[in-house]
Amino acid sequence: MAKCDRSRRAVPRPFLKWVGGKRQLLPELEALLPRRFDHYFEPFVGGAALFFHLQPDNATLSDANAELVDCYTAVRDGVDALVRELRRHVYDQDYYYAMRAWDSAGAPLHQRAGRTIYLNRTGFNGLYRVNRSGKFNVPFGRYTNPVICDEENLQGCSRVLQGVALVHEDFEAAADRARAGDFVYFDPPYVPLTPTASFTSYVADGFGLADQERLAALFRRLSERGVQVMLSNSDTPLVRELYAGFHLEEVQARRNVNAKASKRGAVGELVVCSDYPRRGAAARGVVRAMRPISRVQARP
Ligand SMILES: C[S@@+](CC[C@H](N)C(=O)[O-])C[C@H]1O[C@@H](n2cnc3c(N)ncnc32)[C@H](O)[C@@H]1O
Repeated sequence: MAKCDRSRRAVPRPFLKWVGGKRQLLPELEALLPRRFDHYFEPFVGGAALFFHLQPDNATLSDANAELVDCYTAVRDGVDALVRELRRHVYDQDYYYAMRAWDSAGAPLHQRAGRTIYLNRTGFNGLYRVNRSGKFNVPFGRYTNPVICDEENLQGCSRVLQGVALVHEDFEAAADRARAGDFVYFDPPYVPLTPTASFTSYVADGFGLADQERLAALFRRLSERGVQVMLSNSDTPLVRELYAGFHLEEVQARRNVNAKASKRGAVGELVVCSDYPRRGAAARGVVRAMRPISRVQARP
């Protein structure tokens, strides 16, 4: 049998479009990664852009969104059935709303995951949004020939997911399993840039200030335990305050969650790293100077 050689394969892309996806920030994130780590944890998995880029051997991916975790499980454990299911779906407005209204609870995994992936590929902007009763409520999206089933990519994602632990749970329980030498990458729902721009409907309960504080306390705890921790968030005074004392790197990300094209564009984000040797620092031969980070004022 042919030897498994991951380096010769095209890197699979995230099979879901996910708001806040990290594909365009990968070069910046790569430079900030630890030089080596044991187990990889991504407790807000979303589209898992960094995971697919790194293809770590030992990994745990988790999320509070059960439908999302089901999609990863279907890709890992039953990609052929999932591909057959996705091929049945069509890009049509009436069909979309019928699928959206279908209560898939109780259906087999490949059908539930197929519905979620179909709605993600054909709904407006690839958004995931639910109403108060937990029902997906994103309208039909206008595309020219959207790809509903990219079999080659799904098969590639499935290969990379073999042996990966997939868990539906809150970030705190998931990351608390990390030990010294492991690496945890947190990409939570972001602190809103302005109160009106809040984007907190990934799960029925949203993700509020108390969650951001709980996350920052966990980040500190893990760091004290020798776990290598990296986190992305918006560049806001609150985030700078919550992670005061850690290495902060400013990065620019292109975002298009705003329905108004005029309001899309580059926004400042922060990447926070606990105290570990970073890959980029080795490449440049210097450790980048840290900005003063205690109680930094909002930038104009
Ligand atoms: C910004 S997205 C992650 C983006 C992802 N890293 C990517 O590259 O596409 C945030 C994720 O956090 C999840 N989430 C929200 N609240 C959570 C919680 N309390 N515990 C775990 N996951 C949560 C959402 O379901 C969503 O998938």
